[in-house]
Amino acid sequence: HDLDTFIAGLPKAELHLHIEGSLEPEQMFAFARRNGVAIPFASVEEVRAAYAFSNLQDFLDIYYAGADVLRTEEDFHDLALAYFERVAQDGVVHAEIFFDPQTHTHRGIPFGVVANGLLAGMEAAEARLGITSKLILCFLRHLDEEDAFKTLTQAQPWLDRIAGVGLDSSELGHPPAKFERVFAAAAAMGLKRVAHAGEEGPPEYVAEALDLLAIDRLDHGNRSLEDPALVARLARSSMTLTVCPLSNVKLCNVASVDAHPIDRMLQLGLRATVNSDDPAYFGGYVADNYRAIAQGRDLSRRDLVTLARNSFLGSFLSDDEVAAHL
Ligand code: HPA
Ligand code: ZN
Repeated sequence: HDLDTFIAGLPKAELHLHIEGSLEPEQMFAFARRNGVAIPFASVEEVRAAYAFSNLQDFLDIYYAGADVLRTEEDFHDLALAYFERVAQDGVVHAEIFFDPQTHTHRGIPFGVVANGLLAGMEAAEARLGITSKLILCFLRHLDEEDAFKTLTQAQPWLDRIAGVGLDSSELGHPPAKFERVFAAAAAMGLKRVAHAGEEGPPEYVAEALDLLAIDRLDHGNRSLEDPALVARLARSSMTLTVCPLSNVKLCNVASVDAHPIDRMLQLGLRATVNSDDPAYFGGYVADNYRAIAQGRDLSRRDLVTLARNSFLGSFLSDDEVAAHL
C-alpha cells in the first residue's frame, strides 16, 4: 500500500549488511547441491524453523554453519548479485557491505576466492542495476589479534578495492581494546574503520571503539542510550549509528518493534540509520526494516526521510557523491 510505496521510493543507502547473512535458505540448498556439500536440513521450511534465536551467539552458530555452502568465486558472485537484485526493489542505490574472510579462510577457501567473487558481483550490480557499493572487511572478534593481523596481510593485494575494516561476531568478552593495534595498522593503510559495539555489549565498549579504534561509524550502538554523556558525545560528533531494528528484535535485544528506540535516537540528535544486518536470517530486507519501525513507532514521513538522508550522510561516499544523493 501507500507506506510501502513511499518507503520503496525513498532512495537509500544500506550501511550494515553482512553479505553472508543474505544467504537465503533456497540459495543454501542450491549452493549445497552444486558444490556437493551436505546440510543438516531436509527442506527450506526446516531451515526457516531453525531461525529462532535467543541471543547473538545462538544466531552466529547457525550463520557460520550456513556459510559452509559457499565454496567458489561463482558462489560469492551469485550471493552478492542476488542481494543487490533483491534490494533494487527496496530503493537501495548504494550499499557498503561487510564480509567475514576468516569464516572462509578457516575452511580452506582462499581470501582471493571470496574477495574476487564479491567484487565481481558488486561490479555486475553496478552495471546492471546502477547500484554502487563498497566492501568492508570484518574481523571476527572471537578470534585473536594475530589472526586479524594475518587477515589484514592476506587482504593487501585487494586494499585498493576495500573501503574499510569492521569488527563483528561475539561481542561480550571481546572488547574493542583487543583490536586496537590491528585498527591502528588499518588506519595507517588508509582504511576506514567501523565496529559493532553496544549491540549486546555495554556502553563502555562503544566508548572504547571511539577512543581506541577511532571508528568512523558505529554499528548498532543501541546500548549507548544507557549513558547520557556518551549519547551527547555521539550526537556532538555526528557519529552515524547503523541501527538494525528487525535484528534487534530477532536477537532479543529489543522486546518488539513497538519498543524500538529508533525515534528516541533521532530525538536525542543521533545520526541513526536503518539497516537489515542479516536479512535472510532476521526476516526482512532494508525496506522491511523501515516499514517495521514506521508502523511499530508510528514514525512520520519526515522521520523516514531523515533516516534515508542519514544513510548517505553516514556513507563513505565523497562529499560530492553524497550531495548528489540528497
Ligand atoms: N553482530 C555481530 N556479528 C554479526 C552480526 C551481528 O549483528 N551479524 C553477523 N555477524
Ligand atoms: Zn551486524
